[in-house]
Formats: sequence, C-alpha cells, structure tokens
Amino acid sequence: MLTVSLMLSLMSVYFTLVQQRELSLPTSADTSRKWLWNGTLRNTRTERSASELEAGQIQVPKQIRESFLTSNILLQAPFELLGIAISLFLGALAAYLGLARLERVKLGTVEVVEAELSNVASLSTIVPRSFHPVNPYIKKVFPNTALIRQWWSTIFSDEIQDPSCKVLTAVDPDDGTTIGVLTLRLLGPNDRGSGFWTMYDLTEDHDKIAYRPMIAGMTEHRERTMLGKPHFLIEAFGVDDAHKGLQIGKKLLSRACQIADEAGYETFVQANASARNCYCKLGFVEQGKSVMPGEVEYVEYMLVRPCKT
Ligand SMILES: CC(C)(COP(=O)(O)OP(=O)(O)OC[C@H]1O[C@@H](n2cnc3c(N)ncnc32)[C@H](O)[C@@H]1OP(=O)(O)O)[C@@H](O)C(=O)NCCC(=O)NCCS
Repeated sequence: MLTVSLMLSLMSVYFTLVQQRELSLPTSADTSRKWLWNGTLRNTRTERSASELEAGQIQVPKQIRESFLTSNILLQAPFELLGIAISLFLGALAAYLGLARLERVKLGTVEVVEAELSNVASLSTIVPRSFHPVNPYIKKVFPNTALIRQWWSTIFSDEIQDPSCKVLTAVDPDDGTTIGVLTLRLLGPNDRGSGFWTMYDLTEDHDKIAYRPMIAGMTEHRERTMLGKPHFLIEAFGVDDAHKGLQIGKKLLSRACQIADEAGYETFVQANASARNCYCKLGFVEQGKSVMPGEVEYVEYMLVRPCKT
C-alpha cells in the first residue's frame, strides 16, 4: 500500500509538471479557461421561464467556451491522485499500527544474534512453535513432550558451546523469547553423518520410523555431494508461527550466508517444500530430493549454496 501511495504521489507530481508546461504558469482564471477550451463556443439557454416572461425580462444569451474532457481530467489529476495517495498512506499506517497492537508486527527491530545458554529454555520449544502448525510430518516425528524438549535443550546447549557451530537466533524485543532459530555447523572434509541429527540418541517419544528415512536421505545426499571439502550444514531453521512472513527467516538465513561467504565455504541444507523458495532466493541450488515413505508424500529437497567470494 505504501508503495502504491508513493507511486501515486510521483504521478501527481508528473501531472503537475505536465500542467505547468501546458498552462505556462497560469496567472488568471481566464488563462485556465482558454487552455481548457476546445475551440467551440456555445450559447446558454434562450428559453425564458414563466416568471421571466411575466416580468417581461429579456434574457440575453451568453456565449461559453466548451472544454476538452482530457484537459479537465488533466487539471484534476494531481489533486485526485494526491488525495488517493494520502488516503492509502494513512490506511497503511493505521493497518500497521493495528497489527502491531495485535502483536503480529513488532515495532522494535528484531535482531539476529548468537544464542546464549540463557536462551536454551525458550529454544527447547522453537521446533514445535515453528513446525507443528504447518508440518504434520515433523509434528509426528517430534511431538512436543517433556522428553523431546529435554532432547532439544541438550542439543542447543551443546551447540552454543561448540566452536564449530553457530546457533543464530531472533529474539522478541518485547519479552526476550526466541522467535526464530538457524543452526549452522562447519563440517570437515571427512565428517560423516548429518550433524546433530545423527549424533544424539533418540528418545522413546520420537517417531523413529518417520525419523530414520528423513535423516538417511540427508546423510546420503550430503556425503555423496560434499565429502572431500569443508562446508557448512544448516541443521535446523524455523520461525515461530506467530511471527512468520515478517522477514525474520530471511534475516537468519542471510546472516548464515554471510558467515559462509566470509569463511569461503559452500553450504548444504535439506529443505522441505515450504522453505525451498526462501533458500533459492538466497542463492541455494537444488541438487536432488528424497521422498519419505508413507501415504502422504512428504518430500525433502537437497540444496547447495556456492560460496559468493
Ligand atoms: C521457512 C521459514 C523459516 C521462513 O521464515 P519466515 O520468517 O516466515 O520467512 P520470511 O518472512 O523471512 O520470508 C523470506 C522469503 O521467503 C519466502 N517464503 C517464506 N515462506 C514461504 C512459503 N511458505 N512459501 C513460499 N515462499 C515463502 C517469502 O516470500 C520471502 O520472500 P521475499 O523476501 O521475496 O518476500 C518459516 O516459514 C518456518 O519456520 N516454516 C516452518 C519450519 C520450516 O519448514 N523450516 C524450514 C526447514 S528446511
């Protein structure tokens, strides 16, 4: 809306300039009338009303200039466009403030920072908060139980303290809870597996039957395409459902790409269909895919981002 408003304002300036050129800065109403005139002169009505007839008044017909419709439109255009632009701008501002009030938009800036141990409790629920409302497969694999929250806590706290990992997080400026996460791990040329996904024993609450093909596919593709060179692996990436679509994911991913570019390494990720666009927009290229067994066809895509430096 704000973009449309800006464009309308610019058009209004454009039409004002056209007017100025055509009218040559009119100094009187008569100049404007001449500019609007299409060259035809018309008489006003000549019939007299009953009262005029009674009074014996004589109506002298007046000649008026007929005007071009286009010149009339051109004369009005800047005012109307500006009026619409201002209304749109005020409408968009009201919508933005309204959404902010409903806490869909944070008025403060959401920064991407490296997580600290104090964030672990909040991070232990970030996967259910990000994935569960939109991804039934992941919800089935990682139900939000105390055992699985503990599993996440252990992983996040280990990664925060591991120099080969970066736990990037976006923190709500209002209450300090984590509203997004991206974990990045630097893997050596001979490192096998898929980072934390293959390092930790599963709990009895994990759906192991659904977990295994998902991780086996990632490991197989990564080892086939990336072994022999150091590279980064994006292990987990999610934004709290209430904060999706606000460019928080893009900020997290851009920071991860910046880290990879500074280090001079490629980045591998296994991405689901809904996140694929997000990755591709930042330079990831699809290398393959893996379809999970089961009635619902759940597909994971293997993407690699070349280093930009
Ligand atoms: C994927 C996810 C992290 C994106 O985070 P987000 O904050 O909602 O995304 P952003 O608002 O930063 O959007 C970034 C870009 O990706 C695009 N995008 C985001 N989600 C998308 C979707 N579901 N479908 C298509 N495009 C999408 C946006 O259009 C945007 O493009 P733009 O910059 O041209 O506007 C988030 O939707 C999420 O947590 N999903 C569930 C968990 C998940 O699937 N994680 C990925 C695991 S691989």
